[in-house]
Amino acid sequence: MLLGVNIDHIATLRNARGGVEPSPVLAAEICEQNGATSITTHLREDRRHIKDEDVRTLIKTIKTKLNLEMAVTDEMQKIALEIMPASVCLVPEKRQEVTTEGGLDVAGQLEKITKFVKPLKDAGIVVSLFIDPAAEQVRASAKTGAQFIELHTGCYSNAFGKDSEEKEFQKLFEAAKLAQSLGLRVNAGHGLNYENVFRMHEIPDLYELNIGHSIVSKAVFTGLAQAVSEMKELIK
Ligand code: PXP
Repeated sequence: MLLGVNIDHIATLRNARGGVEPSPVLAAEICEQNGATSITTHLREDRRHIKDEDVRTLIKTIKTKLNLEMAVTDEMQKIALEIMPASVCLVPEKRQEVTTEGGLDVAGQLEKITKFVKPLKDAGIVVSLFIDPAAEQVRASAKTGAQFIELHTGCYSNAFGKDSEEKEFQKLFEAAKLAQSLGLRVNAGHGLNYENVFRMHEIPDLYELNIGHSIVSKAVFTGLAQAVSEMKELIK
């Protein structure tokens, strides 16, 4: 199973001061040096973390693959066709949300999404649809021409360790099986962390996990001791 790292929250931290540190480009390099097989960034309509310049620099510096998460809008399609990431992951986007809350309603917008996928695919960009683990969404995704789905693991992640864990896990399991039987490749992500990720191995042939928040959160604490002692040394 491959690991795609989402570096959006490196940009969140940088933007808190409006400067250049910490650099998403350097973060991507470190992720790649340590086994990430792709780097994901979500260029949101409100540009709250990753900015256009970040994506334009990352496409030149990334050595693995850039996976661009984006909403189904003309603006984003234009940017993707210009930048040409290895893949795009189409997500729903609401201005007020803290993070991507649910999956894309592919079944309810089949014609629109099918039309949206075609020029991206024709240009050679691999297209993935971020969907909830529901049979109707999987079936609709298979009709759009997209090669991948990414299963939204948020409900499973929230249910982990609770009574509903098994039910949420089974939804992912069944959705993955159905998708694979329809010829789709399956990624997964959202809310995965160092406790709940291990069950992803129970789902056969998952291709890639996309993980961001828990990795960036852990990086703060694995690096804090060194950061403090280096500063202490400097001011001695
Ligand atoms: N996959 C998709 C489609 C997402 O929108 C996100 C969050 O931006 C992730 C994966 C990563 O989620 P998390 O930051 O919770 O690991």
